[in-house]
Amino acid sequence: MAQPFYITTPIYYVSDVPHIGHAYTTVAADVLARWRRMHGDDVKFVTGTDEHGLKIQRAAEQRGVAPQEWVDQTAQRYREAWAGLDITFDDFIRTTEPRHAAAVAEFLQRVYDGGDIELDRYEGQYCVACEAYYNDDELIDGNCPIHNRAVDHVVEENYFFRLSRYEQRLLDYYEANPQAVRPESRRNEVLGFIRQGLRDFSMSRTSITWGVPLPWDDRHVAYVWFDALISYCTAVGFGSDQNEFDKFWPANVHLMGKDILRFHAVFWPAMLMAAGIELPQQIFAHGWLLVGGEKMSKTTANQIAPATLVEEFGVDGFRYHFLADQRFGPDGDFSYESMVLRYNSDLANNFGNLANRVLNMATNYCDAAVPGVRADGPLQSAAATAATEASRCMDNLDFSGALNATWELMNAANAYIEASEPWKLNKAGDANACAAVLGDCLEALRIATLLAAPTIPNAARELWVRLGFADTPADQRLPEALQWGGLPAGNRLVKGAPLFPRKEVAE
Ligand code: MSP
Repeated sequence: MAQPFYITTPIYYVSDVPHIGHAYTTVAADVLARWRRMHGDDVKFVTGTDEHGLKIQRAAEQRGVAPQEWVDQTAQRYREAWAGLDITFDDFIRTTEPRHAAAVAEFLQRVYDGGDIELDRYEGQYCVACEAYYNDDELIDGNCPIHNRAVDHVVEENYFFRLSRYEQRLLDYYEANPQAVRPESRRNEVLGFIRQGLRDFSMSRTSITWGVPLPWDDRHVAYVWFDALISYCTAVGFGSDQNEFDKFWPANVHLMGKDILRFHAVFWPAMLMAAGIELPQQIFAHGWLLVGGEKMSKTTANQIAPATLVEEFGVDGFRYHFLADQRFGPDGDFSYESMVLRYNSDLANNFGNLANRVLNMATNYCDAAVPGVRADGPLQSAAATAATEASRCMDNLDFSGALNATWELMNAANAYIEASEPWKLNKAGDANACAAVLGDCLEALRIATLLAAPTIPNAARELWVRLGFADTPADQRLPEALQWGGLPAGNRLVKGAPLFPRKEVAE
């Protein structure tokens, strides 16, 4: 029986257009989804757009268009951006869809009936960019600590979610489930935050209309975060398809940037507890992708559209760079120069050269057929180590570690070629020895290709054909296909143009 595996990205605000920061989370989720599919899992990979709230309403007003028109246009920009990065999501959830309104209504009603939503009065500070309330002591010089801009003073009569009642239950939960928030440093941050004490928060608005009305009081719409988080349930059938929901819920992993960890690790689990729904198995918060040491934002005008880089480095070049260059946890700084360097060293040289050399030599010296793989070839242990290590890393969402392990295998194969000099063996007429070396290198290349396939799917698919297979890497079943010796003797080999042509370093 295929195991269900449910993975989500945040749903992105349509006040903004997609930049490489959004792409970073989405590509990582896509790589994990592809990796699980290769293991035969029944994967549900969901991304989408967050379309309600004051921020979106204002963005539409500023452009003089109706909110629905604005969200339709921008949601489309996200779909296009993801198509341009070969993102294989299974569903794209938009919070303005009817299925979501139904899910939110059902969810809210349950929490309300359970007694954890009550009418109350709120006075305090609100940051529209965060769509979040702040206490005075959290502000920095009176400004939002995340966006460094003025906050609004609001006085409202609203419905409140009784988050304070969940303090101890959340602590107990995280105590009992140490893997529930990763990495460890983020878990500690969450525990620290909860221990400071949780305050009830206002979960409805009367000041705006752009939102989901509360089922018991339609003068109010749901607070955008309350609405948005529920989308994780909507996308797998909550409120519309109970079988689907039972199959995929709880989510295996919610991926996100550290900026929205609190919403996911404090609000969301408490909301789920209040609604009597199981909690997600894991919340993983990665670091920010900085540009010139700063977070990308409209105000600093340092946003980079994914398409700009894809045009230059290709889809695979883009995907590879962001996952390999920065560890999936801490912040990392993007620079064009290091992207060129990494592309040349890892993709053009290491991977590209290995593929070209081995395929060229095997075509010339072995009549373009796989000569067979030795049962105990000298690359076998390197291949086994790469497979084990890359798999371990992938299971821990350590994408750069997994790629590192994979590239180690390519290093080993390149070094083996240098040391055994098959061109000399061929010249000396030692056809068996030459074939033995090349057979093993082709097999190492096959295994490296499978391990790299979720990250560089296009190059992997092309290489798979060149190795003489009629299917694709995605059709292979892991871990079995990672066993040494899987490349059939006699497979017809195909030479081809370099998969990653070298880049000149721009001035
Ligand atoms: N709409 C909310 C999320 C609701 S989820 C129920 C939101 N949207 S957002 O458009 O601001 O996107 C936030 C996510 O985009 C971050 O959590 C992160 O995953 C990603 N990133 C946005 N900028 C980023 C960087 N500069 N670096 C890395 N990731 C970034 O918050």
